[in-house]
Amino acid sequence: MWLVGAGPGDAGLITVRGRALLERADVVVYDRLVGAELLTFTRPDAELIDVFKTPGQHTLPQDQIHDLLIERARAGKEVVRLKGGDPFVYGRGWEEIEACYLAGVPCEVVPGVSSAIGVPTGAGIPLTLRGQASTVSLVTPSVGKGLPARELPYAAMAEMDTAVVLMGGARLGEVAKGLIAAGREGATPAAVIQEGTLPGERQVRGTLATIADVVHDEGLRAPMVLVVGPGAGLPRLDVNAPAAGFGPLAGRHVVVTRPSSASRQVISKLRGLGAHVIDSPLIRIEYLEADLPGPRSDHDWMVFTSLHGVEGLVRQLERQGLDARFFGTARIAAVGPKTAACLEAVGVRADLIPGEYRARALVKAIAAEGKS
Ligand SMILES: C[S@@+](CC[C@H](N)C(=O)[O-])C[C@H]1O[C@@H](n2cnc3c(N)ncnc32)[C@H](O)[C@@H]1O
Repeated sequence: MWLVGAGPGDAGLITVRGRALLERADVVVYDRLVGAELLTFTRPDAELIDVFKTPGQHTLPQDQIHDLLIERARAGKEVVRLKGGDPFVYGRGWEEIEACYLAGVPCEVVPGVSSAIGVPTGAGIPLTLRGQASTVSLVTPSVGKGLPARELPYAAMAEMDTAVVLMGGARLGEVAKGLIAAGREGATPAAVIQEGTLPGERQVRGTLATIADVVHDEGLRAPMVLVVGPGAGLPRLDVNAPAAGFGPLAGRHVVVTRPSSASRQVISKLRGLGAHVIDSPLIRIEYLEADLPGPRSDHDWMVFTSLHGVEGLVRQLERQGLDARFFGTARIAAVGPKTAACLEAVGVRADLIPGEYRARALVKAIAAEGKS
């Protein structure tokens, strides 16, 4: 079992190791803070389990997440538990890896860029600044369900140059008041970033005294990071024409509607060109089970119009215990080189590929062969 940090949101901010593990996993267990785009790195046949959206729309209880990870790993599956940011920052990551470890499941933890650092940086807010900020506190007012409430260490936080607050939600006002009461100036710059590094990113600025009202008035929602300190008072880089990224498609959103089994290559090419890709398959390929007649030699042609046609036939031959003799003396036509390559992979060479890779051209080419 690999406990992998997904990074703060944007799919490009996972580590190289994290991505490699995602690409080979049999099972990926994830929750809502993981950017949906990351899931397009998974294998088309990987089992994807969203533990946030269980059938009743409740988060799966923690012990059941542990049982799930252990059960899948014991069944011989390569399991990736993907967690937002860094898995050991406010994410119950230790509990999950400990449960697997105690159950004898081999585990490894792969760090990620925490939202605590990645979200402010992505929004152009440095947490440390030479000569102005060299100490940073990281806190949350949310201790977790079932645990005793605990006052934040405001005095210690007020001593630090920058405060970063995760899961502040409705309690931002209370945190700001606590810091002011502990001696931090009300005029200290403050910023809140919602959905940092994601397409829905929003950022508001204010001071410690005003930030809770600004967030309320602007209607910002979780997930949010609050930063209090000199970095939040620097010029906003995104108010100039924002740099949209790199490549000719930077700043563009592209929806890919191909079936997921066929979209990986195109998605990775589009990303390489700088596009933000939304993977939204509108077609799902399913193979029907229709019995083939036995091996025969009364067919002149067998025609394959797609990769899926080849895949469907191969599955069917396997299911019925048939082999290459099924093709008999028939000649084989493929609509294009990819379909032909797919046939070749199962030991069948196409006799005909039309010059233009379309069904109409295929029919014409076969008719022309018939006449010759
Ligand atoms: C349960 S904690 C998990 C933190 C995570 N392990 C990490 O290292 O980023 C969830 C909190 O992280 C913060 N967070 C995570 N992703 C964020 C994002 N893209 N934008 C803003 N805040 C984010 C929010 O404060 C959210 O309430």
